[in-house]
Amino acid sequence: MKIKSDWILPDLKAAQKRTKKAVPYINHFELEDYVRYIGKGKKYYISTFGCQANQRDSETLAGILDAMNFEPSESPEKADVVLINTCAVRQNAEEKVLGQVGNLKRVYRENKDLVIGVCGCMAQEEKLVHTIIDKYPQVRLMFGTHNIQDLPNMLYKVMYQHERLIQIYSKEGEVYENLPVHRFGNNKAWVNIMYGCDKFCTYCIVPYTRGKERSRTMDEILKEVNELKNDGYKEITLLGQNVNAYGKDLSADYDFATLLAKVAETEIPRIRFMTSHPWDFSDAMIDAIAKYDNIMPFVHLPMQSGDTDVLKKMGRRYTAESYKTLFDKIKNRIPGVAISTDIIVGFPNETDEQFQHTLDMVNYCKFDNCFTFIYSPREGTPAAKMEDTIPMEEKSKRLAILNQTWNKYALEKNKQYEGKVVKVLVDGPSKKDPSTFTGYSPENKIINFTGENIKAGDFVDVYIERAKTFSMDGKALCYNKNK
Ligand code: SAH
Ligand code: SF4
Ligand code: F3S
Repeated sequence: MKIKSDWILPDLKAAQKRTKKAVPYINHFELEDYVRYIGKGKKYYISTFGCQANQRDSETLAGILDAMNFEPSESPEKADVVLINTCAVRQNAEEKVLGQVGNLKRVYRENKDLVIGVCGCMAQEEKLVHTIIDKYPQVRLMFGTHNIQDLPNMLYKVMYQHERLIQIYSKEGEVYENLPVHRFGNNKAWVNIMYGCDKFCTYCIVPYTRGKERSRTMDEILKEVNELKNDGYKEITLLGQNVNAYGKDLSADYDFATLLAKVAETEIPRIRFMTSHPWDFSDAMIDAIAKYDNIMPFVHLPMQSGDTDVLKKMGRRYTAESYKTLFDKIKNRIPGVAISTDIIVGFPNETDEQFQHTLDMVNYCKFDNCFTFIYSPREGTPAAKMEDTIPMEEKSKRLAILNQTWNKYALEKNKQYEGKVVKVLVDGPSKKDPSTFTGYSPENKIINFTGENIKAGDFVDVYIERAKTFSMDGKALCYNKNK
């Protein structure tokens, strides 16, 4: 397939470089007249894979499309523009995306005006982009994580000049404030506090797909939180690949603990944050979580492995011992805190003994929730070049043992709630059983419950009758809309 001269293709080597150059902040977004009405009478559909950063980006994509007068569509079949916002973190995430792009071929055959766009983290990967260029002609637009603000202009070119356009920058550009946003939730909202990642854990593609760490200013974040509060939002989640690094690129007076305190003082009812790395998790952060009632007693603390040598090879910058010390400190200083984690099994050459150390750690920490993965080599990362002698069958076996182990503790933890009352922020009727409602406790536990006159966004006191591994069942006692 011929590469056109005006295409911009990703380059992982360039994406790996970091410079000290200050990042410009752009506060102004305005649509030019030639793109403002191109969505009139047309519809869009966005499909989102991956983490919360991608969810939040999709809300910006939707906001920009709304501003161009497009309307949302319930299905890709009825849409004029379909955007697939992709994740590159593991091979199976990529396979899911390619499956969906493949399925859209049929829709494209029936509507040759359909614009199918692929964006997000997979678009930042060289090999993947070439695969799409060669094998998926139905994809007419590809752009990356650094230029979503150019969507109007890119769409205009594809729609009116009948081009196939690929525009992927390998380096982060400006931090854009005030891009339009169409929030998908009415009660819970994502708030970016920083973009990118500089940790370069050896297995991870994110620092290449998301660029260097760039923090938003405290003023902008607080403005957004206050607006959300005034709009009636009940919960916000502060987002960053590693929130502990917040502000370090801006000035010495900026840190995450200070930001947490200031966000808490807005008095928005519930505050969460994602993700905090065990390295650099400061005492001041623990104090802030303990001090403010509206910062939820829940910490996601990715461990990855319980073996110090594996952690070193992963480039995680902490040891099994220091993880344990931090874990104990958080448990002891924040009453009732729940802690969840991420674990990778089958990192190149992980021995039985090293895997056993991970299990030992799970037996010690008894996590409330675990997200467990088989290591997936990502091209361009240092770990992908490591020789690996562990067969996939063995890795799958380890994953099953790990899951069995943590599931047991998750159930045990949830059992401690039986007979107690928890305050639930209601998401709405349960998808599985519309006669019951579902929502989350402060500790991020999923609670399904029965009750009357309840709607999404209410705070409800729920009496827990039965604990399960992944959720709990109960009944509403009373509800208080405002707290
Ligand atoms: N910034 C977050 C993680 C984002 S990716 C943090 O550091 O905690 C979410 C999780 O995916 C990681 O915690 C890790 O457990 C997993 N992950 C990342 N790269 C992976 C890979 N190559 N193979 C398997 N799991 C991976
Ligand atoms: Fe990936 Fe590590 Fe950055 Fe998390 S901190 S996004 S695991 S490189
Ligand atoms: Fe996936 Fe990109 Fe998030 S790789 S996990 S969508 S930052």
